[in-house]
Amino acid sequence: MNTIIPVQLPQASYEIAIAPHNLSQLGAWLSGKIADQAPIQLGQKLLLVSNPEIFAIYGELALQSLSQAGFDVATHLIPAGETHKHLGSIQALYDSALSHKLERSSTMVALGGGVVGDMTGFAAATWLRGINFVQVPTSLLAMVDAALGGKTGVNHPKGKNLIGAFYQPKLVLIDPTVLKTLPDREFSAGMAEVIKYGIIWSVELFESLENNPALARFSDVSPDLLSAILNHSCRAKADVVGKDEKEAGLRAILNYGHTVGHAVESLTGYSVVNHGEAVGIGMVAAGAIALNLGLWDAKSQGRQLALIQKAGLPTQLPPGIQIDAIIAALQSDKKVNAGKVRFVLPQAIGSVTITDAVPQEILCQSLANLATGVE
Ligand code: GLY
Repeated sequence: MNTIIPVQLPQASYEIAIAPHNLSQLGAWLSGKIADQAPIQLGQKLLLVSNPEIFAIYGELALQSLSQAGFDVATHLIPAGETHKHLGSIQALYDSALSHKLERSSTMVALGGGVVGDMTGFAAATWLRGINFVQVPTSLLAMVDAALGGKTGVNHPKGKNLIGAFYQPKLVLIDPTVLKTLPDREFSAGMAEVIKYGIIWSVELFESLENNPALARFSDVSPDLLSAILNHSCRAKADVVGKDEKEAGLRAILNYGHTVGHAVESLTGYSVVNHGEAVGIGMVAAGAIALNLGLWDAKSQGRQLALIQKAGLPTQLPPGIQIDAIIAALQSDKKVNAGKVRFVLPQAIGSVTITDAVPQEILCQSLANLATGVE
């Protein structure tokens, strides 16, 4: 059965469609032939963007479905990994858009994880001043977070996602069955964002994760729990983005765990820890800061820590990272406002607050606890 979650925005509403085997229906979805879907109108030319690993598994199925629906499709592959998320890769994507003669009515379809989705979205936002764009996320992290909400962009050598645009897709198509080929480490990484929604928005989601004995692999999660995870997470994101598309206020709560997380990712060259692992560490850091500020209690911090560990995620800083280096890296984050770092801190399971009033000594003390393993 299809679950359709609307993302309601003033100018660019769209749907998140979740159902097993949706990928084989890609062409039907893009031509607006699925019962109950909102009207969608895309031109005939498509550029399918993916990475070689994902394309080897799912490219054929996607291409077949698109051709059967009458689309004229070309393919562009980006090497896998965060280290390829830069403007050079966007230039190569523009070259493919040019050779396939994409027009204003044409569409870029991102088939892959967050890196493919963010870059395809940015290329679509800027090619011919904006063409259509569809997200077909294949990682858990992209399904619950990166592919939703219209944040697109690339990294600058000095910081993650510093170059980008808000640009909404016309449709997000999720096929949970593709997660069976996702490496375990990537599944865990996605679970970090799922746990994030439990802390910032949904006690029900948090408790359903707590009640499952294991969470680190696709095989640990029943189809019913996976469906609940996707539904709760996508609804949480759609609700938040629907209220604050451009991050004027509320949307910043989606950055829970990302402040210290981004610093850790950037200091380790985007290769030692992946994004989800960094968010796991960042959530423990945010919890430690909140604990030291008296905003939340040790029991809640313990519940958060247990869930992050159950998802197979790290909870301590990688060896060799200096606390001073993290503090310096926080200053070049997008979340800095008038020189002050903005933190999203937990108050209770299901509720967070945003503050830029974290004294330096509390920050240092909280990070030191993570470095030494004192939690
Ligand atoms: N990943 C955070 C956001 O979409 O706002």
